Amino acid sequence: MKVLHSIAELRAFRQHAGRVVFVPTMGNLHEGHLSLIRLAKQHGDSVIVSIFVNRLQFGVGEDFERYPRTLAQDCAKLESVGTAAVFAPAEDALYPNPQQYCIEPPGIANELCGKFRPGHFRGVTTVVSKLFNIVQPDVAIFGKKDYQQYFVLRDMVLDLNMPIEIIGAETGRAEDGLALSSRNGYLSESDRAEAPRIYRHLSQLRDAVQQGARDFELRCQQVVADLAQHGWKVDYVEVRDAHTLGAPSATSTRLVALIAAKIGNTRLIDNIEIQL
Ligand code: PAJ
Repeated sequence: MKVLHSIAELRAFRQHAGRVVFVPTMGNLHEGHLSLIRLAKQHGDSVIVSIFVNRLQFGVGEDFERYPRTLAQDCAKLESVGTAAVFAPAEDALYPNPQQYCIEPPGIANELCGKFRPGHFRGVTTVVSKLFNIVQPDVAIFGKKDYQQYFVLRDMVLDLNMPIEIIGAETGRAEDGLALSSRNGYLSESDRAEAPRIYRHLSQLRDAVQQGARDFELRCQQVVADLAQHGWKVDYVEVRDAHTLGAPSATSTRLVALIAAKIGNTRLIDNIEIQL
């Protein structure tokens, strides 16, 4: 496995890499990330993984500075699952100057997580476009754990005619249902024990909707109330159309229930798709 730090090294490697499947990450890798790499291997000749903590997508007061940087451990894990190359640029390799040209996502990027993290998705679309231009992958894989991110990036690639196939990967979970996340490492022992409540609510919402419930607003309000009662600060609990991320309609064929909430100082997000 090659560990490449400069854009020039990456471009040279890419020339002989065949059909490239790309998995962008911010590192501090866990089993959820590794499941993306395993899926990636089925779709091409070489898997390239980027590790870059992207300042542009963090808001003021968010965890950019304390986001865990664990390159050596990450590389050992990536090697064990058959990654061809890791691209781990220094910040000034990607941003030698303040970024001037940005990819401005449409209105959906101001809803759900975007409402609570202004500018976040603009930072994501911009860095992923830069990484796409550098790596020039045939396929890129994103986790559905970050459902809105997956949606926005898929939409960007379509809208800008980028010749890249986007694949969504299922969410990797701990045994108690908690979605794996680099941010789980911030949780205290008692918050970690409380954290699976999100997934339990999502599963109950899915079951109720599949049994015919359509009173989404009331049910979401009940979830908000229960989370608040258990010490959470809730950003949102919503049911949306999975194809548009807009409000569900009578013709929706697939929905997605999404939750974002803080326990202690840690903001967790999760979602579940609901096939109708
Ligand atoms: P990061 O949070 O490191 O996640 C990298 C990729 O792993 C994303 O596609 C994310 O959705 C996926 N992922 C995270 N946890 C997962 C889980 N439990 N199961 C399945 N997939 C999971 O998302 C980012 O980095 C950044 O925003 C990035 C796209 C790299 C742009 O900076």
